[in-house]
Amino acid sequence: MNMDYDIAVIGGDGTGPEVVREAVKVLKVAESKFNFQLNYHNYDFGGARYLKTGETLPDSAIEDLRQHDAIFLGAIGHPDVKPGVLEVGILLKARFALDQYINLRPVKLYRAEDCPLKDKEPKDVDFVVVRENTGGIYTGVGGAVQKGTPMEIATQVMIYGRPVVDRCLRFAYEYTRRRNKKKMLTLVHKCNVLTHAGDLWVRAHKEMGDRDFPDIKQDYNHVDACTMWFVKQPEWYDVIVTENLFGDIITDLAAIIQGGLGIAAGGNINPEGVSMFEPMGGSAPKYTGQNVINPLAAISAGAMMLDTLGEHKAAQAIDQAVTKALNSGKLKSLAAGRMGMGTTEVGDLVAGMV
Ligand code: IPM
Ligand code: MN
Repeated sequence: MNMDYDIAVIGGDGTGPEVVREAVKVLKVAESKFNFQLNYHNYDFGGARYLKTGETLPDSAIEDLRQHDAIFLGAIGHPDVKPGVLEVGILLKARFALDQYINLRPVKLYRAEDCPLKDKEPKDVDFVVVRENTGGIYTGVGGAVQKGTPMEIATQVMIYGRPVVDRCLRFAYEYTRRRNKKKMLTLVHKCNVLTHAGDLWVRAHKEMGDRDFPDIKQDYNHVDACTMWFVKQPEWYDVIVTENLFGDIITDLAAIIQGGLGIAAGGNINPEGVSMFEPMGGSAPKYTGQNVINPLAAISAGAMMLDTLGEHKAAQAIDQAVTKALNSGKLKSLAAGRMGMGTTEVGDLVAGMV
C-alpha cells in the first residue's frame, strides 16, 4: 500500500527555512525509493509574523496542526523579539497543547574528529535521552510576591504527578527494549536533595521496572554526576530518562559530544497523537541566508519523523546516508561556516546517498 502523510511545516525564523528545505530534499528521495508520500502544508509562525501581527501560535492553529500526521519545525527565535515570547508562545505552546510529553534526543557521534572529548570514537558516544517534555518547572506553576521590593519572593515549582512520571517511564522502558542494545535505563535526577520530586521518580522507575520490564537493567545517576560521566565515560549509557529541566540541560552537553548543534536532532513525541520534529539548534540569525548552516540535524530530524510515522526502512536509509556522507570526508566540520561546503551542497550529498 502506498502511504500518504500530511506534514505541517513551520520553517520559522533565521536559518530554519534553509535547513528545512534540505531535509525536504532528502525526504523526497526517500519517498520515491520507499513508496510513500509526504504532503506538506506550510505555516508561517515565527518572529516575522509575530512582529507583523502580534500573534505567536493562535488556538485555531493548534486545532489545525492536530489534523496532521506530524509537524516539522525549523527554528524559532528572532533578534527583534524579546527572549521568551516565541519560545513560550510557539514551541512550548505546541508541546503542551498537543501533549507531546516525550522529548526524544538521540546522541550519536558519527566521526571521532567531531567529538571534543579525548580518545572517544563513534562506538563510545551512542545513547538516547528521553526527556519528560510537559511537566516539572516548565508548567510555570509558581509566582512572585512583593515584586520589586527588597523582600521579593519568587517560586517556580517542579511539579510532577504520578501519571505524568509513569507515562514517561513507560515510553522510556519500551524504547530501551526496542533499541535492544545494552538494555539499560538510567534514571537521572537529584534525589539526594529533591527528596520529594526525586523520590517519586526513583520509586516509579523501580516499581515499573521490577513489575513490567525485568529484562531491562535499572540504573541511576544524580544529574550533576551525569554531566561528569558524559565527558569521562559516555560509553556507559544506553537510554537515559529524566525530568524536563534536567533533560534540557544535559541534552545540550550531550549535543556537543556528538559534534554540536549542527547534528543534534530531537522529536517532541505524543505517542498517541501528533509529534513535532526539529533540529536542536536555534535560528542562528548571524548565519541566515548565507548557505553556511549545517542541515544535518534537520535531515536527521526528518529521519526521526519517518521512524515515528512507521516508515522505519526509509528512516534507516536516511540515517545511513548521513553516515556515508560524513564518512566521505567531504565535510570538513559540522560547524556553521566551517563545513567546507554550503548548506545546499550538504543536502545534495546526503540526498545522493539515500
Ligand atoms: C530546547 C530549548 C527549549 C527548551 C527552549 C527554546 C524553550 O532549549 O528545546 O531544549 O527549554 O525546552
Ligand atoms: Mn534546550
